[in-house]
Amino acid sequence: MADYLSSWKSEPTYFDESVKKKSNGTNDYRLPQEGKRNVLITAALPYVNNVPHLGNIIGCVLSGDVFSRYCKIVGHNSIYISGTDEYGTATEMKALKEGKTSQEICEQYYHLHKQIYEWFNIEFDNFGRTSTENQTEIAQDIFKKLHANGYTSVASLDQLHCGKCDKFLADRFVSGTCPNCKYEDARGDQCDKCGKLIDAVDLIDPKCHICSETPVVKSSNHVFLDLKQLSPKVEEFINQVTSAENSHWSANAIAISKSWIKSGLEKRCITRDLKWGTPVPLEGFEDKVFYVWYDAPIGYLSITKTLLGDNWTKWWKNPENVELYQFIGKDNVAFHAVMFPSCELGTGDKYTM
Ligand code: 2FM
Ligand code: ZN
Repeated sequence: MADYLSSWKSEPTYFDESVKKKSNGTNDYRLPQEGKRNVLITAALPYVNNVPHLGNIIGCVLSGDVFSRYCKIVGHNSIYISGTDEYGTATEMKALKEGKTSQEICEQYYHLHKQIYEWFNIEFDNFGRTSTENQTEIAQDIFKKLHANGYTSVASLDQLHCGKCDKFLADRFVSGTCPNCKYEDARGDQCDKCGKLIDAVDLIDPKCHICSETPVVKSSNHVFLDLKQLSPKVEEFINQVTSAENSHWSANAIAISKSWIKSGLEKRCITRDLKWGTPVPLEGFEDKVFYVWYDAPIGYLSITKTLLGDNWTKWWKNPENVELYQFIGKDNVAFHAVMFPSCELGTGDKYTM
């Protein structure tokens, strides 16, 4: 794969030499500066387990790039951040299929993504990845503060467990007959035939995807984020941002986030029985990791830290001086506009939101 890509690769063409110099020069300009417009730009982090397709690029990466180039040309102080979203079941599944470790899969696909975006002349200030020490540090810091502030709880969940593999079977690791339409090859999270969402424990005649044994229902403890308790704070945030005169949220983003608030936020499980993810810093949770959607938006912060070291906070904990623009697809709105802001607000720290 890397070989055929290198034959595609050409030097990016810049239409403004000063942009090129800044991008290849020192890091100084990458910190917010007094008296300037400081613009922090992100593009949704693509899942690492696939070859990027045009949808990724058109959906947000290219729009973000155009905006970032514009900001730089008109002299705003800006950085453009993205990277691969590397943790979770999808990566573990791919690794299993290809007979590799999750780490090897990430290594292979991270470089593939990076090369393809370079080939398209997309000019990130940093195209990073989520499976880093910086990610662990920031994700755990946010969690510890949410926990200390009383926004988490622990409860037990029933899940399918394969005795032979000694593993809880996350949704995609199990298949069986759909309880709704009786399709025989339904996945543990959704039936491909009737489209209904499925709770894996309701599958008829479930089979472990790894060894084909029949799993049994077993319960284990998980951490839940109390979105209900955080709801007034996040509602205030959404109302404030969307009613501001210079608000740039799309009509879609406003409608989707308001409808989430309106239908009421519930507790959400933020841990999973997987190996490939950010470790949960809580006694009794040594074998679990954070759910990929708790983790993913923190990637923007950790990827900035990978670029700038401790100065990452000058962008991300500086709401008075920094404007944040996030380019995302519509499926990602709830996570960016409701879930992640809830986490940030729950820490009590002042984030750039
Ligand atoms: O939907 C997706 O492709 C996710 N990987 C987007 C994550 S965006 C951010 F939260 F990291
Ligand atoms: Zn098994």
